[in-house]
Amino acid sequence: MEKKSYRIGTIGGDGVGPECIREGVKVLKAVGEKHNIKFDFIEYDFSGERYLKTGELLPDSAIEEFKRLDAIYFGAIGHPGVKPGILEHGILLKIRFSLQQYINLRPVKLYPNVWTPIKDKLPEDIDFVVIRENTEGLYSGVGGNFRKGTEDEIAIEIDLNTYKGVKRCIEFAYEYTLKRNKKRKLTLVDKANVLIHGHDLWERVFDEVGKKYPTVEKDHAYVDACCMWMVKNPEWFDVIVTCNMFGDIITDLGAMIQGGLGVAAGGNINPQPGGVSMFEPIHGSAPKYAGKNVINPIATILAGKLMLDVLGEVDAGNSVEEAVIKAITSGRIKNMEAGKMGLTTAEVGDLIASYI
Ligand code: IPM
Ligand code: MN
Repeated sequence: MEKKSYRIGTIGGDGVGPECIREGVKVLKAVGEKHNIKFDFIEYDFSGERYLKTGELLPDSAIEEFKRLDAIYFGAIGHPGVKPGILEHGILLKIRFSLQQYINLRPVKLYPNVWTPIKDKLPEDIDFVVIRENTEGLYSGVGGNFRKGTEDEIAIEIDLNTYKGVKRCIEFAYEYTLKRNKKRKLTLVDKANVLIHGHDLWERVFDEVGKKYPTVEKDHAYVDACCMWMVKNPEWFDVIVTCNMFGDIITDLGAMIQGGLGVAAGGNINPQPGGVSMFEPIHGSAPKYAGKNVINPIATILAGKLMLDVLGEVDAGNSVEEAVIKAITSGRIKNMEAGKMGLTTAEVGDLIASYI
């Protein structure tokens, strides 16, 4: 059989990003050997570090190159020397927006042997997926300041919701709920009791699209209540669909109940044919741990699993997840938190690769 091959762009980024990506690549190479898949990794150095040296964030020519990749594997960006917002908009959001990665898929899954701060909850209680709209909402960047720096300043941030943008996200969520085939329940999370224009649109589109999915149970929660249920009754959720800003917030809460940022992964997905998606851990660049070989690479490794799933390499993706489960139930990793693992970053990568 001819070997399948994929061109993967890697962006280690800042802080702990590069060391996490190194372990992720190690695991992908191992899984490639097992499943007869070839990966060509193309390294890019876009980061805060590079920005400080060259003044360049992410040129349009790089976006054009990215369009010819099969996927992007992203570490983290964020640099203590760069004002917040510059790298976020100039690199990460630029990629999400210009490659039309309009879905941000974030599984919240408690693995066996992983500590959750929620008392009495087991892996079977914490297993749901958040589908976050990823190109609109409060992230659009539309807005401005008027009379900036004066006492009469006006600052406006537009919550931009388009019918098409909301619809494609909700359609993806219904399809995903069917394919996932667990509880077959989709929960819309919004704040339509206050955001009576934009989130009313979400509710109408949710009902409209839902008519095509009679076998999916429809559920709704306001975002504040959603936070409450995520802690009190996480087992109620199967798939959540929500806007960009709320998806950002509730997935940090989700990361905590699944054992911390050390294990939480996500995919920025362009589901169109030929679309280029990007996979990353939910955590940031964690500068204080950078270069110390103490960060947990499992979130990045699980982002690699999501990448394999989206590329259609589901068996390979399952191999990665099984190897991660073996590693965390082996007793050799003491804790999911950085610096408390009892193993180095590279040793955790080696262990997982060895189980593949
Ligand atoms: C995330 C991050 C980003 C976001 C930041 C770094 C722009 O928090 O991926 O959740 O808000 O989307
Ligand atoms: Mn976030």
